[in-house]
Amino acid sequence: MVSGLDDVVAAETTLSDVDGVAGKLVIRGRPLAGIAGHLDFESVVTLLLEDLVPGLPQGEALRAALGKARLDVFSRIAPMMDQLARLDIYDAVRAGIAVLPDGIAPDDTLRLIAAPAVLTPLMLRLAAGQRPIEPDAARRHAADCLAMLGRHGEDERLACALDTYLGTVCDHGLNASTFAARVVASTRAGLTSSVLAGLGALKGPLHGGAPGPVIAMLDAIAAEGDARVWLEREVAQGGRLMGFGHRIYRTRDPRADALKAAVRQLGVSPQAAERLAFAEKIEQTALSVLRAAKPNRVLETNVEFYTALLLEAVGFPPEAFTCVFAMGRIVGWIAHALEQQRTGRLIRPQSRYIGPICAEAG
Ligand code: ACO
Repeated sequence: MVSGLDDVVAAETTLSDVDGVAGKLVIRGRPLAGIAGHLDFESVVTLLLEDLVPGLPQGEALRAALGKARLDVFSRIAPMMDQLARLDIYDAVRAGIAVLPDGIAPDDTLRLIAAPAVLTPLMLRLAAGQRPIEPDAARRHAADCLAMLGRHGEDERLACALDTYLGTVCDHGLNASTFAARVVASTRAGLTSSVLAGLGALKGPLHGGAPGPVIAMLDAIAAEGDARVWLEREVAQGGRLMGFGHRIYRTRDPRADALKAAVRQLGVSPQAAERLAFAEKIEQTALSVLRAAKPNRVLETNVEFYTALLLEAVGFPPEAFTCVFAMGRIVGWIAHALEQQRTGRLIRPQSRYIGPICAEAG
């Protein structure tokens, strides 16, 4: 059975390792627990890219260079923001990234990394009829993204929670979007082309499109009143419970716990605490429903369930969740694309033809 490339090893990498049996994620040799809540976004960029991007600035210089890249993206997008604002947010972010130069130089890399953190708050504000807020190059990347959303001056804990999220999702083996990015990079196309491939794959609800629907699921269950009835009906009708199940993990996704801890630590309002308590109850009921309905398949909580809770608490609306995912994963896509170009060959698998053969004429 070749349909989902299960167990096929398609690349060798020094970037990250997913142990689906033990439920462990290692990024650049460090366990996730040493990254989530410990490294800010700039440090994650260094961790993944320092040996792949020649001359990548370090420390304060990287913060300044990334800030400059955010300003560069903002000025390139400004003339077209009204047209972009007519699109759905994810499509607008993708279209904004598509106009960036398709190179592989260090400047191209930083501009691409900056792009979703500029475009996401910009498009959200325009959709809400608010005036855009320009980046401030002096701020930390995560804090500036929230400032562009209009949340400057609020609790620094929000920016730290966003850093935790971005570090948690920065890379994850050969997931669908990273594979797509590596395939494009293997043709020697530029980084914008690779990132656009990653963005396309990330959008779907089986991958990075899941966290928005997690909120819809929680709200629908709250409206129905009886969680078990709602969840059993959903599974019986062939629906998938968003935020559960994984191709690789045969146990709990370690990122779920990293994010759950971050939401708990955040505890910014009584409503957020109430939301978390409700979600924890739903999680337990969902796991019990899934165990009963699919006894032959281990279905556990994945990263997206607590992503939804964390991003909601930080202040993003559900329609922007996948864009915020891209804000973190873009570093992984770029690292994989550069690694592929340095060490890999053109990725060109084969297909088995199973269609008809017409008789030859004459
Ligand atoms: N809810 C209900 N049933 C499920 C779920 C789920 N979340 N996930 C898998 N199943 C069931 C399938 O219906 C199937 O049942 P069947 O054998 O009776 O037909 C069985 O489990 C195996 O499913 P597959 O599709 O083979 O599993 P696969 O490895 O392809 O799926 C995936 C992985 C796509 C993540 C799946 O678990 C899913 O759809 N989850 C919900 C969406 C989601 O949370 N996506 C985010 C994943 S994390 C990430 O990408 C960042």
